[in-house]
Amino acid sequence: MKLVFATNNKHKLEEVKNLLGDSFNLMTLNEIGCHEDIEETATTLEGNAKIKSDHVKLHYGYDCFADDTGLEVEALNGEPGVYSARYAGENATFDDNVQKMLKAMSGFKNRKARFRTVISLILNGEQLFFEGICDGHIEASCSGEKGFGYDPIFKPLGFDKTFAEMDIETKGRISHRGLAVQKLVAYLTKQVQTSRLK
Ligand code: IMP
Repeated sequence: MKLVFATNNKHKLEEVKNLLGDSFNLMTLNEIGCHEDIEETATTLEGNAKIKSDHVKLHYGYDCFADDTGLEVEALNGEPGVYSARYAGENATFDDNVQKMLKAMSGFKNRKARFRTVISLILNGEQLFFEGICDGHIEASCSGEKGFGYDPIFKPLGFDKTFAEMDIETKGRISHRGLAVQKLVAYLTKQVQTSRLK
C-alpha cells in the first residue's frame, strides 16, 4: 500500500517505519516533491495534523497521514502543548526549547507531564484520527543522546531512563507516537486484509 507520511523529520520517519513493517510503501514529503512549508495554524493537535494531511491530498492526490505532537506539562497548565515546537520562539532549536522548559520548571515539585500525539489519516476518501498518550515527568537536567526534541528531559512513567536514553524499539513500544502509530497500523492492516478478500 502506497502512503505518504507528511513529514521530513528523519527521527519520526525512522520511528514510524520501524513500526509499520513491509506491507506499506511509505513516502515522505520530499519524495513526493512537496517542499513548501505547510503552516500549522490550528490551535489544536487535531487541527494541525488535519491541515498537513489535507494539504497532501489536495495538492498531490496521495492518501496520507500526518501527526502532530505536544508536550503537556501539568504545572504549566498544559503548556506548551500545540506550541511545543515554538516554545522558545519561532525559530527555536530543540535545545532552546529544552533549556526554556528546565528554567520554567525550576522550583516546581509537581513535574507531571505527558506527550500527546494525534494522527490524521486520509484513506480512500475517509478521514480518521488516532491518538496516543505517554505519561511521565520532566527531569531537572538532561540525560541521554538519542531521540530528539524534549527526549533528554522526559522520563516516561514506570521507567528509570529518559526517552533519550532508550533504544528506538523501546521508545516505539511505549511512546505517544508509538501508541498512535500502533492504532494506525491495526487499522491499515485491517484495510489491507479486507481489500485482499474483495
Ligand atoms: P511536531 O509538531 O509533531 O513536530 O511536534 C512538536 C514538537 O514536540 C517538536 O518540535 C518536538 O520538540 C516535540 N516532540 C514531538 N515528538 C517528540 C518526541 O517523541 N520526543 C520529544 N519531543 C517531541
